[in-house]
Amino acid sequence: MANRRNRRIVLAPKLPNIQYVEESVLKYIVGQDEPVKQIIIAIYKSIMFKSLKSNILIVGHSGTGKTEAIKQILKRLDVPYTIEDATKYTQEGYKGADVEKMILHLYLNAKKNLEKAQNGVIVIDEIDKKAGKRTSGERDVSGTEVLNSLLKIIEGTKISISTDKEFDTSNVLIVFLGAFSGIDKIRDERLNVHQVGFSVPENSDAKQDSRILKQDLVKYGLPEEFVGRIGSIVEMNNLTKKDLALILRNSKLSIFRRYQKALKQRGILLSYDGALFERIAEKSLSLDTGARELSNTVNYIFEGIMYEVLSNPEKYQKSEQSAYKHCNLYLGIVDDNTQYEIS
Ligand SMILES: Nc1ncnc2c1ncn2[C@@H]1O[C@H](COP(=O)(O)OP(=O)(O)O)[C@@H](O)[C@H]1O
Ligand SMILES: [Mg+2]
Repeated sequence: MANRRNRRIVLAPKLPNIQYVEESVLKYIVGQDEPVKQIIIAIYKSIMFKSLKSNILIVGHSGTGKTEAIKQILKRLDVPYTIEDATKYTQEGYKGADVEKMILHLYLNAKKNLEKAQNGVIVIDEIDKKAGKRTSGERDVSGTEVLNSLLKIIEGTKISISTDKEFDTSNVLIVFLGAFSGIDKIRDERLNVHQVGFSVPENSDAKQDSRILKQDLVKYGLPEEFVGRIGSIVEMNNLTKKDLALILRNSKLSIFRRYQKALKQRGILLSYDGALFERIAEKSLSLDTGARELSNTVNYIFEGIMYEVLSNPEKYQKSEQSAYKHCNLYLGIVDDNTQYEIS
């Protein structure tokens, strides 16, 4: 009896207040308020009520914060997890890691507490790279075959992790991440076909679902049995120029803020026109890699300043007596990193 009670406690760990987690994650992740909330709800629900456990798929363009958001959420929960890159895995017996390794990583991250590990989370990133039809005749050992080996874990199997221990995967929560580039087109086609093919009376219940649906994922090339095991699909927003500017200005991940802090430690205060953030955002957006390009653009901007500071360590050193120096960044610095002035 006592044993049973203990088990139940482990199965429903005490998670921090859900709103607290949401708010603190949103200090890092910008422009994704609704998706972040959906992800948190799906995770809490799965952990707190085993009967409602459903695996999660997060879809979103590159650099919209999929990996970062899930990291920020999970590190706030007292639940073991591992983040795995699907592209590193191949089918059992072939070159590359086989999926049982993921279980081992989870077990190790749980500091070998089997009970905790069995109730942990596996994040499988870049899952879209494993989608796609088999090429004729050849065995696709790295693609859909991997998805099939993953199915075993998802459906619940026992994996031996040491001579005397078996890992039961049935309670592990799986979160898949993927860009699924081109899926918007599949979704749009579905919506258009419907519009053209049938005349839907207004206010009809037959209104088409504009979210990404499981059928779209199947069409993209994910096996049906696999898609069937996904309970919640969360779509990240595309980041706009305004979002990128907000990341620079406010996010705790902002690389601009990191430079600002580092320079302050060397006795330099930055000044700049507020429009600088929009300029950086605009330049970074041109590559269609979401927020990823921000760090390149910002690193470029500060290159000359860093060189000057690093090559004159005595001059740039904050002491109690010395007043702060001021560094003004002109808007043109975005395209020409000599456009600054230290006084
Ligand atoms: N919505 C966002 N808010 C703040 N920073 C972001 C956001 N999206 C991406 N970033 C920044 O870009 C980097 C790459 O994002 P990442 O989460 O790896 O993108 P994805 O996994 O969607 O391709 C992150 O480490 C973070 O610094
Ligand atoms: Mg990613």
